[in-house]
Amino acid sequence: MQDITRRDFIKLVQQGLALTGVAALFTPIVSYFFPAKLEEMPSDPVLVAGQEELGPGDSRTVAFGRYPALVIHTEEGLRAFSAVCTHFACICKWDPDLEQIVCPCHEGYFDPLDGHVLHGPPPTPLMQLNVQVVDGKIYVGGQG
Ligand code: FES
Repeated sequence: MQDITRRDFIKLVQQGLALTGVAALFTPIVSYFFPAKLEEMPSDPVLVAGQEELGPGDSRTVAFGRYPALVIHTEEGLRAFSAVCTHFACICKWDPDLEQIVCPCHEGYFDPLDGHVLHGPPPTPLMQLNVQVVDGKIYVGGQG
């Protein structure tokens, strides 16, 4: 068996560091072109709130399976989206002053009416979810 020299060891460490650097460089690029996908969404509607609890301009973030859903009472009615940003899967929030959905990670902005990207790096719109009112209660998910 051959002994490893100090020079070989340093070379090995350098190659390891170089590989780590390349992976750190390319992971965000690959993630940009293959954004996070939602899986395991509940098939049954999830209770959001009573209708009177979500006035115009208000929003609620609720657990929706493994991911949060964002429900907004817009001036054109209730809208619901997966709150998971399509860029690097940060959790988006409703900004009532801007009247836009905002991703705080890299300043992504989404339209609250249909979830399309207004500004920033997200490659695709937010996933729109069904929202319905049944007996005065707001539900997200399920069939329309
Ligand atoms: Fe980058 Fe949302 S994760 S803009």
